[in-house]
Amino acid sequence: MRLLITAGPTREAIDPVRYLSNHSSGKMGYAIAAEAAARGHAVLLVSGPVSLAVPTGVERVAVESAAQMYQAVAERIGSYDVAVMAAAVADYTPAEPATQKIKKDGAALELALVRTRDILASARGEFGFEGLLVGFAAETENLRANAMGKLRRKGCDLLVGNDVSRSDIGFGSDHNAVTLFSADAEEQVIARCPKTEVAARILDRIEAEARGDGF
Ligand code: PMT
Repeated sequence: MRLLITAGPTREAIDPVRYLSNHSSGKMGYAIAAEAAARGHAVLLVSGPVSLAVPTGVERVAVESAAQMYQAVAERIGSYDVAVMAAAVADYTPAEPATQKIKKDGAALELALVRTRDILASARGEFGFEGLLVGFAAETENLRANAMGKLRRKGCDLLVGNDVSRSDIGFGSDHNAVTLFSADAEEQVIARCPKTEVAARILDRIEAEARGDGF
């Protein structure tokens, strides 16, 4: 199969020196990319700025901002069978990034933020993607309700839900604990384990669906 995977954070410029970002390290998306390549699949990683090496056998497109990640996916997703959106894409970005470094003049600095375009939500719409769509949900409460809502709203075949309020899994950690949600199968709970193991279980589900065994 040909998989396009997004991973890592995005950086939203405030001025040429400062940006807004988040705690994503890219480890979850990179683990999925590495596992898919190890299984012989063709893998494109669209990655925000991380300090991870490109996994063996994986092609990487490096981006910075949510807008750049949106564009990189929009241009390429049509030639892939599976899309896995593991990136922590900024939901908001400064409305007017300053062209020069903002000088501190003592007064408070107020930032107006506007919504970024939702890459996952664009897959079935703007991109016309008809392949297998795997989304993630980073939640701090009501994981099941939030995850199933995203699965339906964004037209995902599989939704990987993780509780990011915990410090021993999720952002930055080598471990994760996820629940795999799909429209017509039982939830699959994967207890805390290395992200490489979570990646293997996600690939098992994707390959099962591709074989027509259903999620
Ligand atoms: O990178 P690590 O340090 O390994 O941490 C892993 C992780 C916690 C980042 C990962 O497991 C995870 O949960 N990734 C999704 C983070 C996120 O942005 O979740 P969300 O619930 O805010 O977004 C929902 C889905 O929409 C995600 O698939 C996201 O990629 C996508 N999205 C969100 C906003 C946007 N503008 N475009 C998107 O495509």
